[in-house]
Order: sequence, then structure tokens, then C-alpha cells
Amino acid sequence: MSFDPKSQRFDANEEYNQIPARFQIKTEEETNWRTNRKVRKPKKSKQQVVAELADASHVSEGSFKITYKPARYEAIWLQASLEPFFTQALIEDVLALVKGGKEANVYLCRATPHLPVRYIAAKVYRPRQFRNLRNDKMYREGRELLNSLGTPIKDRDNREMRAIRNKTSFGAELTHISWLMHEYVTLQRLHQLGAAVPLPIGAGDNAILMDFIGAPGQPAPVLHGLSLPLSEARHHFTEIMRNIELMLHHGMIHGDLSAYNILYWEGTITLIDFPQVTLSESNHNAYRIFQRDVQRVCEYFAQQGVECDARQLVEKLWGDYVKTAPDRTVSDLE
Ligand SMILES: Nc1ncnc2c1ncn2[C@@H]1O[C@H](COP(=O)(O)OP(=O)(O)OP(=O)(O)O)[C@@H](O)[C@H]1O
Ligand SMILES: [Mg+2]
Repeated sequence: MSFDPKSQRFDANEEYNQIPARFQIKTEEETNWRTNRKVRKPKKSKQQVVAELADASHVSEGSFKITYKPARYEAIWLQASLEPFFTQALIEDVLALVKGGKEANVYLCRATPHLPVRYIAAKVYRPRQFRNLRNDKMYREGRELLNSLGTPIKDRDNREMRAIRNKTSFGAELTHISWLMHEYVTLQRLHQLGAAVPLPIGAGDNAILMDFIGAPGQPAPVLHGLSLPLSEARHHFTEIMRNIELMLHHGMIHGDLSAYNILYWEGTITLIDFPQVTLSESNHNAYRIFQRDVQRVCEYFAQQGVECDARQLVEKLWGDYVKTAPDRTVSDLE
């Protein structure tokens, strides 16, 4: 995927122009859909898609002026996800798409001057219908359901819990918000603990804001694909293990750690992408997930010439910080 400085776009954007065809939504010219002229009732899945997009279009056109030129359908989604941050005076412009991922797009934004950073990375989750859902069930075990304020929804019998159990679209929306808020709350917690993570700046129903790592036109690359001199590689390996240890000490496992989710910029590394954060003592798969994280990190650093024994590291850290045996949780102990 390449960045075109003129259009300020990556190829990934073309995807949004495929959305009408993929879901057989007629284009604006064909239906006057945006002007609310009556159109034939679409089937359910399309209806949901249109409803989601139309929901977003209540925001009056013209009030959302940004430098970046999104594709038509991306524009509606982007405005709905980011406009609240303009209102809250957190961002004042969207400058470029940094990367289009499977679940989210990350945009470079200009921060308002009162903030301690100049640029912000906005991770905007795709509308549910256009997202490649990860197998999130495995990571959710033992985690609380978080509302959009990042606080746990407690009562197991309330409306929210029923919606999730009955797999209604409201339930799916709640699960989505909880997934996103776990990423944000984890960033906040880790930042406070002194981990190498971006500074969290804000969260909404469909996006999180954090410190942008890199420079405009030059986002920090991920470690994967980078060759490091041995002494530097050793240094970063130690720093990543410090972060893994810090997380485990506080009951957390990244859940998707690899050289793809570690940014490298001006000699420092930053861990990103936390929605899969897993609780070490309340998830039956925690040990396996932890093994996989450490294994993947070791694979990259072994290629750089660093000696590391993933099995030994896993056993030592697990023994030091986790009181439950592999495949067991605290509730099994009760
Ligand atoms: N704070 C940041 N500063 C600079 N770039 C970032 C930042 N956060 C994310 N990115 C860029 O956006 C990409 C996607 O972010 P992230 O890994 O959080 O989302 P994702 O949906 O898991 O994407 P992918 O499917 O590519 O893993 C990263 O690989 C990185 O290139
Ligand atoms: Mg990622």
C-alpha cells in the first residue's frame, strides 16, 4: 500500500468506493439517497448498512471541514466518528490517512494548540458491517463489559446484558464499544504505569485518539521489516520485555503482540493495538496467549541476532507474577 502525497491517500481508500457495489447500495446519482427521496426498501442487511450511514449524515454538510479528502462513504463514517473530537476541541484538522487496517483506519490529525502534542493518531473503527472481526470471544473471557465512559456494566440481568445474550444489534453495538474502550482504558493504565505506549488523548463511540508517533508524511514504521544493529536490537528487546513484564505484573497480556504492533521512531519503540488485552488470572487461554506474544517477539529478535529463549522467559515470568497455573483461572480456585 503506498501513500500518495497529492491525494493524501493510501490505496486502502478505494475500498470505500466499492461499498455501494458490494452491498448493492445504489449510488447518489441513481437514487438521490442523500436527499431522502423515496427509494425501494432494501433487504435487511443493506438496510442496516444504509441506516448506519444515513444516521451519520444528520450532521450538516459543510460543518466538518478537513484537509484530508476522504472517499464519499468514508466521509460520512469519518465525520460521525471524529466530529465529537472537534467539538471537544481535541483535534482541529484531519490531515491524512496513515493506514487502513482490517478493523480500523488510523488518521493523522492536527491537535488543538492547548494539547501537549502537535499531532494525534485517530484510530477509527470501521462500521461493524465492513469490519473483519477478530475472534474476540477468546480474549473477552474474564473481562468486564465496558460502557462508552470506560466503566464496567455490572448488573448481569440488565437491558444491556440481555441484548448481548440475545445477539441483538444493540448488543453488538455494546460489544463493539466495550472492545474499543478496553483498548483505550488499557492505554490509559499502561501510560500511567510508565509503559512505552502512546499518550491516550480521547475516546468516543467509534474512535480513540492518541499521540501520533512519527512526523507528518512519515509515520513511524512497525518493527517488522526493519533490520537493527545487534546492540540496538538487544536494547529494544530488553525494553519490550520490560513492558511485557510490567503488564503481567498488573494482570495484563497484550494479546496481539508481534513486530507488527510495535512502532519504531528515532531510536525508541512504542507498543500499540490493545483491544485484545487479556487478563492473566481470569482467562483460561491466558497462558497460551502469553506464550504466543513472547514467542512472536522472540522470533523477530532472533532474526536480529538476539539470543532469546521464549519458553524460559514465559515460564519465569508466569511463575513470578501469576498465581494461577496455566489453563486455570482464579474462579477455578474458589
Ligand atoms: N499512535 C500511532 N502513531 C502512528 N501510527 C500509528 C499509531 N497507531 C497506529 N498507527 C499505525 O496504524 C496501523 C494500524 O494500527 P493498529 O495496529 O492499532 O490497528 P489494526 O486495526 O490492528 O490494524 P492492523 O490490522 O494493520 O494491525 C499501525 O500498524 C501503525 O502503522
Ligand atoms: Mg495492528
